[in-house]
Parts: sequence; structure tokens; C-alpha cells
Amino acid sequence: IDSNIAEELYELPCDEEWEINRAQITIREQLGEGAFGLVMRGDAVGLTDMPSTCSVAVKMLKADATENELADLLSEMDTMKEIGRHKNIINLIGACTQHGPLFVVVEFAPHGNLRQFLRERRPSEYQYNRLSYSAASLTIRDFVSFAFQIARGMEYLGTRKCVHRDLAARNILVGEDFVMKIADFGLARNVRDLEYYRKTTDGRLPIKWLAIEALFDRVYTTQSDVWAFGILLWEIFTLGGSPYPGIPVEKLFDLLKSGYRMQKPQNCPSDIYDIMLNCWDENSTNRASFTDLRKQFDSMLSSMA
Ligand code: ADE
Repeated sequence: IDSNIAEELYELPCDEEWEINRAQITIREQLGEGAFGLVMRGDAVGLTDMPSTCSVAVKMLKADATENELADLLSEMDTMKEIGRHKNIINLIGACTQHGPLFVVVEFAPHGNLRQFLRERRPSEYQYNRLSYSAASLTIRDFVSFAFQIARGMEYLGTRKCVHRDLAARNILVGEDFVMKIADFGLARNVRDLEYYRKTTDGRLPIKWLAIEALFDRVYTTQSDVWAFGILLWEIFTLGGSPYPGIPVEKLFDLLKSGYRMQKPQNCPSDIYDIMLNCWDENSTNRASFTDLRKQFDSMLSSMA
């Protein structure tokens, strides 16, 4: 009887303001697979304030989802409604809650996640050897622009009292015109059950983004998001590198406590490395705020025009 949470056994409340007629959405290929659900690309027709047909991303439960997973997806949708719209976040478009499985419809980001995006733009051996420069190669100014946009999105989430808890390049999506969009900010994260040793789908350990106080005391605040932002800056300037390469998790606790921090990436300007080091200050109150960070990157952009 409880075997089909993903289908229509549960009657969900209908929010007229956000309800989308399922006939308007055609599910296409899979984009991603999360802890409890799937993200599919969909084609949507006749959405208000959208082109006549457009791509959307559709979050849904897997066939074997539990009641708790349904509750989490509903809670994520409600959080997205409460947070409101911003250019630098993945915005909610609406939902199909009636006459079939729950679809949470969000903006589609055509360039995928920032980690992959950066890795695909690493100069190839060919380019090194042949001195050929593709038009698509990224500049320091592009990196500063990415950092500025992410800081601006995080500043907005902060004003809405949202702590992300998993800020990383894998959770930034790259939209039309290379607009940076923070994803998965609405996830209900059970911090107590956090599995430190569970790897992400790309084999990396999320604990390598955790602030020292989150790691030791499970204290998650906007200032622990700032630490993660420092790691994300490091990911940007290494074109999608894996933080603390070769360092096992068991070593990380003692290393960080003893004051060890990652080195300056090659080709990273020292003023930007100074920002990383400030994000990784042991004392969370010494770290810049996202407003400070947004302003710093904005003034760097002006000076690089
Ligand atoms: N993968 C997961 N969510 C996505 C989205 N909104 N757009 C593009 N790819 C995604």
C-alpha cells in the first residue's frame, strides 16, 4: 500500500499561484540524480512570461521514494516560494501537484554545473603545444565575474535567512549568457545525519568544503558558507580542481586545526588568494560577509574593464 509515494496515492494541496498543467510539460532526458530524486530536462509550452516553448528542469522523486523524500521535495518547493526571485539563483517556475507524480519545475541552466563547465574549458595539450588559443578560453576577468555573481546570489540568500550548507562548484549552474545560478539552496539538510565520508557522484568528499566549526561542532551559518565560498574560489582558479588533493579526510581535521590551508593556485592573483585565506579564517567573525565579497569583486571588475 505504501509502495508508490512517487505516484498519485497522495493527494497534494494545490497552490493556484504556482500550479502548472502537466499537459504543458514534456519530460525529456535526465540531467542529474540527487540524493532522493531525479532532475530531468523538460520542454514547456505556454508558461507565462516565457518564450512559447522553452526548456525547464523538472525535479521528481524516484519510483522507490519514501514518504520522507516526498516531504523533503515539498519542503524544498516551499522554501523556494518563500525565498523569492533573484538572477543568481535557480528560480522556481511552478509545480505539477495534481493528477500524477509531483513535478517541481525550475529554471534550466543550459551550460550545466560550474565544475564541469570549468573542466571542459581547461586548455588542452594541443593548445599548449601548438600555441592555439580557442576563442572560448576563460580569462581572470571571467573568473572574477563568476565570483562576483555567486557572492551576489549568496548575499541575496543571506537576506532571506537561507544558509546553503553545501556551496560548491558542483552546486552552481551556468545559465544563458554564462549567468551563475546557485542551486539546491532549498534542500532540507539533516546536519546530524551528515555522512562525512560519503563521496559525491563525482567522487569528491563534501567535507572538504566544510568550515572548521562545521567540521568540529556542526555549526552551520552564513559564515560557514563563506568558508565554502573560499573553496569554491579555489575551484574556479584551478578550473575545477579537487580541493586538498591527496589528503585523506582523517588528516584534514588535524591539518586545518594546526592552521594548514591550501596553497595559492598557479595563475591566481595574490589579492584573490588573500580573499581565499580570509574566507578560511579559523575565527568565523573575522571572515568577510557576502556583501563585503560582492563589493570586493565588483571593484576588481571595474578596475579590469
Ligand atoms: N542539473 C540539475 N539541475 C539542473 C538545471 N536546473 N539545469 C540544468 N542542469 C541541471
